[in-house]
Amino acid sequence: MLPFDYISLGLVSRVEGRRFNDMELFQICTALLTGGQETTTSLLTNVVWRLLEVPERWERLKAEPHLVENVIEESLRFDPPINSHFRTSLCPVQMHGAQLPERSKLMFSMMGANRDPDIFPDPDSFVMDRPLNQVKRHLSFGYGVHFCLGAPIARLEAQVGLRKLVERLPHLRLTGSPERINSWIYWGQRELPVAWD
Ligand code: HEM
Repeated sequence: MLPFDYISLGLVSRVEGRRFNDMELFQICTALLTGGQETTTSLLTNVVWRLLEVPERWERLKAEPHLVENVIEESLRFDPPINSHFRTSLCPVQMHGAQLPERSKLMFSMMGANRDPDIFPDPDSFVMDRPLNQVKRHLSFGYGVHFCLGAPIARLEAQVGLRKLVERLPHLRLTGSPERINSWIYWGQRELPVAWD
């Protein structure tokens, strides 16, 4: 076990021979707060929305609760809580016939990549039982060196949350249309009107 929590570790750590300055610490804390809170909230509201908008899906999950993990991964693929991100090219790149000069600002779309028909058969359908080794190829947690630090806990939280919701509120239903959060980079619901008996 670490002797410090993550934020205390940031306070005492040395990187390249120096401590983090206040702005760097602020950015680390902001990244943890927004990256760790807004995203998992959106994952839960998105998956509940997709399951309730077609009530047969909710019924199926109740009958086959072992599909919870597949459903969470399908939700991440179909409705990535962060729909796109940015990079700066470090050298000239040629891609799909386009020339990108060095230091181009690039926006890449997880939402687009997650609908790639070469990777996901029938990509525009929400399929509750896609095999895990296929569906987990989504890019909703990023890829490579900056792959999401919180992915294991986000997956666990969502699985536990959805399992408990199905057990405790089996008659959950939508009572109106959801309202999207006001952001062009986050994909989640600000309001999801539901009721239960
Ligand atoms: C469904 C929930 C989540 C989604 C969709 C998500 C998505 C992402 C994505 C796409 C990236 C990569 C950003 C990039 O490539 O520049 C990322 C990185 C990161 N995430 Fe998450 N995240 C989630 C939950 C969490 C949680 C719960 C935490 C913290 C407890 C967290 C902390 C971080 C951090 C610190 C990074 C930066 C990693 C690095 O740059 O090395 N995330 N996340």
